[in-house]
Parts: sequence; C-alpha cells; structure tokens
Amino acid sequence: MPRYAMLLAPSANRVYADGAGRLSRTELTVFAGAGVLDATIDDIGETPIGGVGYLTFGTDTALGARDVAFLSNLSSSYALFEQAGEDLLRPVQMAGLARYDSDLITIPKYAGKTNEQFTKLLLNLTILCSASAPRMLDAQLVVLDPLCGRGTTLNQALMYGYDAVGVEIDGKDVEAYAAFLKTWLKRKRLKHTADIVPVRRDRKLVARRLEVSMAASKEDHKAGAVQKLTVLHADTTKLDGILRGGIADVIVADAPYGVAHGSVTEEGGLSRRPLDLLERAVPQWLPLLRPGGALGLSWNTNVARRELAEDILLAAGLEIVELPELAHRVDQSIERDVLVARKPG
Ligand SMILES: C[S@@+](CC[C@H](N)C(=O)[O-])C[C@H]1O[C@@H](n2cnc3c(N)ncnc32)[C@H](O)[C@@H]1O
Repeated sequence: MPRYAMLLAPSANRVYADGAGRLSRTELTVFAGAGVLDATIDDIGETPIGGVGYLTFGTDTALGARDVAFLSNLSSSYALFEQAGEDLLRPVQMAGLARYDSDLITIPKYAGKTNEQFTKLLLNLTILCSASAPRMLDAQLVVLDPLCGRGTTLNQALMYGYDAVGVEIDGKDVEAYAAFLKTWLKRKRLKHTADIVPVRRDRKLVARRLEVSMAASKEDHKAGAVQKLTVLHADTTKLDGILRGGIADVIVADAPYGVAHGSVTEEGGLSRRPLDLLERAVPQWLPLLRPGGALGLSWNTNVARRELAEDILLAAGLEIVELPELAHRVDQSIERDVLVARKPG
C-alpha cells in the first residue's frame, strides 16, 4: 500500500509550540473524513525520517491529482513525498489553491493579527465540515469573517479564489486594511477597483463599506472572472438588514482574546468577556449563512469556557461538529480552542 510523508513548514513549530504535529494530524484527519478524497487515508502519524519529523500516512491507492490538489492546501504543508522503499522519498508535485503571491498574507504585521497558518487551518476545517467541501477546489465560495480585524481571513479567502465579506467595528483597522490592499494591488499591477462608500438606511448613515473588485490576471479581468471583497465598518451585533441573508458559504471568526484585544461594546467600552459578544452576535450571523454552511470559531479558553461557547452555538440552532482535540497554547495568557458548527441543510 502506498505511503506518504509530508514535511511541515518550519514556522508551524513556532505557531503551535509543541502542538504542530498534533494539529496537522487533526487537519489531515478532517480532510480524510470529509468525503472529498478518492483514496482512503489511514495510519496517520508522525515519523522521524533522517532526523526530521514528518506527518506520515498510508492510502489504499496512490493519490490522484485531485487528492494531491486537496492535500496541498493543508495549512502547515511544506512538501509532500511518496515513500518509495525503506529510505527513499519521491517528491510529489504539490498544487495548492494559492492564486496570488504569499506576501498578500505575510506582509501585514500588527498587534492582534491572527496567525496566518492558524487562520488557514480554521478556514480549511470550516469548509470541510460544510456542504461546500466537495466544491472547495472549484467554486468561488463566499467567506464571511464578522470579526475581521485587518483581514487575515479575508486575504486567505482571496488566495483561494473566493469572495470575502468582513465586518469590523474598529475604523482604524478598516482604514489600515483598505490602505494595505490598495497598495498591494497596485504594486502587483492587478486590475481592480477599491472604494470606501457610505451605507445608508432611511437616509441615515449606518455604516461605511470598503468595496473591492479584483482579478488575478488581465485575461481573468477581460473574461469578467473577478473576485469581490466587502468590508463593513460596523458593529457585528447590529447587522440587521445591512447584509443580504444567505450570502456566506462559511463563517470564520477569531473572537477577541480579552487580553490585548477586548470585544468592543455598544457604548464603546471594552468587555473582557468575548462570549458576551458572541451571545449577541451569533443570532445576527446565522441568517447570513446558507443552509449546510458552517461556522468556525476560535477563542481564548482562559477567558471563556468551551461548554459556554458550545451552548451559544447550540442555542442558535447550529449543530456542533465533533472534531479531534484542537486546543493549543498561543502564549502565556492565551489558550486557543476551536469550534466548528453546521447550519442544518
Ligand atoms: C482577535 S481579533 C481578529 C483579528 C483578525 N482575525 C486579524 O487577523 O486581523 C477580533 C476583532 O474583533 C473586533 N470586534 C470586537 N467587537 C466587535 C464588534 N462588536 N463588532 C465588530 N468587530 C468587533 C475587534 O476590533 C478585533 O479586530
């Protein structure tokens, strides 16, 4: 039976301390169980080869091009090899979805940024647990991050060729993200439009909106193959009527950590309890998610217990997806956990 060895990006060790191997095993387990691969994957483990740790697995048949295309998107993947005999590794040509240069995601650096590898992990898990899993490689899905900060999730969605919608209450974050994206698009000479426009309801200004339309190449632009990105400068707990229902295939959010980044309340105060925010926000988010869509959430368990987060999602009518352990340490004050829940189809 064929066996494979995946080399993980060295940066994964920094992101997850000693949890990198475990988290990538979990991610591979989710890819394997999503019903999207032709091959059956088993015996997932970590094996040292030549003194370096690899994520290793067996398959019932050789991985075909489409299976490789799926697995190339694993958030920590660096290189993939077929194990050809005792100690020979044959490189497998990877074919990830990356549509733009990786600096779209790596250039922005700021306090409060969600790590990009973790963001990709959360997006992958959420898509694979949603009804859109079989269309992950081919469709122009719509990803909503209703706590988008300066857009790490949105940029990852763009990388995958998807459309993206973000909501952020901090005007400085929206401005900074708009400025970065405009500069980046100009520097890469990509055809685009990018404008900040007012959003009015009953003639009253209720929000501001960054509207971006972009294409990966001149040919795409000519053919009308454009990607759309919208970022609302608004309170995510008050989205009533501002966004169209059922726009999102998946919702992905990294909740405020209650440390450097509190959740902002209506009065402009800083709440130390991100679950207060979720309690008010999740009912607003749900109508935006298509039936069969999934919500992927990460938060700091030092300030909010997992059971309470689960209760909020269950109370909103979502089904929690059972996943292997994903909790991990980020730094001294942050233990991050992940929940994925599905909207009944
Ligand atoms: C952990 S950060 C997300 C960071 C983001 N993933 C990134 O990489 O830039 C949580 C974000 O939620 C935002 N936020 C907090 N309360 C909010 C609210 N009521 N409405 C909208 N955004 C809010 C914060 O301003 C912060 O940017």
